Amino acid sequence: MTFKKLAKLYSRIKIYSYYFQGNKMAILQMATYGNPILRAKAPEVTELTDEILKVIVDLEDTLSRQRGIGLAAPQVGISKRIFVVDLSPSKQDIKVALINPEIIYRSAEMSENEEGCLSVPEVWGNVLRPDEIKIKGMLPNGRTVTIRAEGIYARALQHEFDHIEGILFIDYFSPGEIEQNREHLDTILDHNRKKLGRILI
Ligand code: NI
Repeated sequence: MTFKKLAKLYSRIKIYSYYFQGNKMAILQMATYGNPILRAKAPEVTELTDEILKVIVDLEDTLSRQRGIGLAAPQVGISKRIFVVDLSPSKQDIKVALINPEIIYRSAEMSENEEGCLSVPEVWGNVLRPDEIKIKGMLPNGRTVTIRAEGIYARALQHEFDHIEGILFIDYFSPGEIEQNREHLDTILDHNRKKLGRILI
């Protein structure tokens, strides 16, 4: 991709950001636990189109409104390999959007920490994950990058990567943690059974 084309893409992103600020900001509806889209392996993005850039802006807007630190496209009903991570709520100046990400390294050292998910509201539990990862993916400007991450950043990237694979953080729960959260999980499932007619747990 030429530099000029990159600049054009950047300005497009800025226009979208500007357009969706204020009352034009697109806040997308969240797909919650039981919605079959959360269990699908999302297909790759084949071309960086305006539509894809808009999905990214909408994900960023929705994430900031929901005050989460990560959001993947399937969570807003779009089955594509795209996610955004924004660590500003945890006081870190890290914000990234990745297209077609791939985890290319996982450390042998692992640690456990509490996680939650915008698609599984009010449910919390400990998840064991590698401490450090390297992830390769495309940025919204079309550039391919490899990111080395540790701590909360590595955790957020892995949680979001799982979403595009159809994996949820509750899949790592112990039977005890499932039991502790049983009431909230059943409430979400009941809601989706009525709303969607069909659920996939
Ligand atoms: Ni999540």
